[in-house]
Amino acid sequence: MPRITVDGNPIEVAEGRTLLQALDDAGLLMNGIDVPHYCWHPKLSIDGSCRLCQVEVEGLPKLQIACNTPVQDGMVVRTDTPRVQQAREGVMELLLVNHPLDCPICDQAGECKLQDYAYEYGVSASRSREPRRALKKNVALGPTIVFDQERCILCRRCVRFCREISGTGELAVANRGDASVIETFPGVELDNDYSMNVADICPVGALTTRDFRFKIRVWFLEDVPGVCTGCANGCNIHLGVANNRVYRYVPRRNDAVNDTWMCDEGRMSYREIGAPDRMRRPLVRGELGVPEACEWPAAIAAAAQRIERVRDARGAAALAGIASAHATNEDLFVFRRLLEALGAGFAGVAVPRGRADDKLIKAEKAANGAGARALGFDDARSVCERIRAGEVAGLIVLGHDALGADYLGGIEALARLDAVVALDSHASDLQRVAHVLFPTRVAAEKHGALTNHAGRVQKVEPAVEPGFDARTEGEVLAALGAALGLPGFDGRFDAHEVSKALAQSVPAFANAALDAVGPGGVPLAGSRS
Ligand code: SF4
Ligand code: SF4
Ligand code: FES
Repeated sequence: MPRITVDGNPIEVAEGRTLLQALDDAGLLMNGIDVPHYCWHPKLSIDGSCRLCQVEVEGLPKLQIACNTPVQDGMVVRTDTPRVQQAREGVMELLLVNHPLDCPICDQAGECKLQDYAYEYGVSASRSREPRRALKKNVALGPTIVFDQERCILCRRCVRFCREISGTGELAVANRGDASVIETFPGVELDNDYSMNVADICPVGALTTRDFRFKIRVWFLEDVPGVCTGCANGCNIHLGVANNRVYRYVPRRNDAVNDTWMCDEGRMSYREIGAPDRMRRPLVRGELGVPEACEWPAAIAAAAQRIERVRDARGAAALAGIASAHATNEDLFVFRRLLEALGAGFAGVAVPRGRADDKLIKAEKAANGAGARALGFDDARSVCERIRAGEVAGLIVLGHDALGADYLGGIEALARLDAVVALDSHASDLQRVAHVLFPTRVAAEKHGALTNHAGRVQKVEPAVEPGFDARTEGEVLAALGAALGLPGFDGRFDAHEVSKALAQSVPAFANAALDAVGPGGVPLAGSRS
């Protein structure tokens, strides 16, 4: 492996890398060694157009652009000399000649690379007396993205993204020289499954998402690491949180899962957290058959009573459980233990399915189908068959995915059961048949881990509090187990403690106790992730 020295730091580099890639691989780029850059992006082809990344290479008379200079064994590089500083200042001055003085009204302010680098390498006054270029503002490029032509620095990241990542190619540079502008091809809109990533990679405020722009200043947001629960890919994200509200999801880099991207549908799924149809109170079906809001202890007691009645009348084998692929590994482990302790006859997991592609989007539209299967929950279709055949009298069901066409296809079969105890975060037709229904938390409101399609266990943590008394599935099931007097249940649930017990008792999870899961996740033992 070639060895190079950058600012006195010896670095070992993989064969065939450029200087900027080598620094990125070593985790040093803008993290100890500052080489400012606009057009270079770790997941896009090299453009070499912005010229900001110039560095001095010993033995070469001219400055070199670090993004397109291949490393050679023995190379000695300096990124902090007066010559380099002067070159950066020159590039910044050129870029700022036409840039509008928009920061106070620009949504990118606070996370803008032009602002950051102008602060570090810019000059405080302009030498230009010419009027700035006047171009179009607020151009709708498609349903999700708004474009400000004046702010664009023509780094072409957005163009390369559409060609190389989404593969849709809607964008191009039109015209030449100082008349160059980014445009969509005539009659074409920027409209693809990954379109909103262009706002993330645009280093300035030229591309913004219609959804997030002008909602809140970014410096009020706290970035909480998390995982998208829109499908089985489990893209790593940051949840942008302020005032106990999630304002946006943006992708978090994980080269083993989603590189630096996420799909638009997953990005917009943050709206489900604060949706008006969240379940807020436990509901218990009263004597007249109408669901009534109820306190938690009474609802737990009512659920336990219903289950006991079925067990006494029909035997434990007439009890069944349907797990949700939205619940965490820890929730599902408690569910498994509860069903085993009850002696329930049937168990499975209902996983909603939809469209997939060859990029990130997976057919399973829930984040933890793989976790449920690793915990021994087979597909719930056979449980649904048993329910339809009248072999089941009592059901504990997590979420409402079991009502989908692949499973029960509605509530008809459930309406015949003697006990339906449901746990759900959002309203659904389950309300019409459940004897007891508990409001549950979503992934952004709890501790736990989710296992993605490739068997990578990834941690979630509470980014917000629900604002009403919703509990995790694990908490509800632990309380239910205690109310039923089941062995091993004392009513307490602590996700970290449960994850340790899970790691000890299920070999696939041996390395996946929450405390051992880093920001990039860990593979299940024997998985391909
Ligand atoms: S719109 Fe943004 S990403 Fe696209 S070329 Fe301009 S500055 Fe670069
Ligand atoms: S691909 Fe799946 S996990 Fe990734 S952002 Fe989209 S829905 Fe979320
Ligand atoms: S980052 Fe190297 S030229 Fe733009």
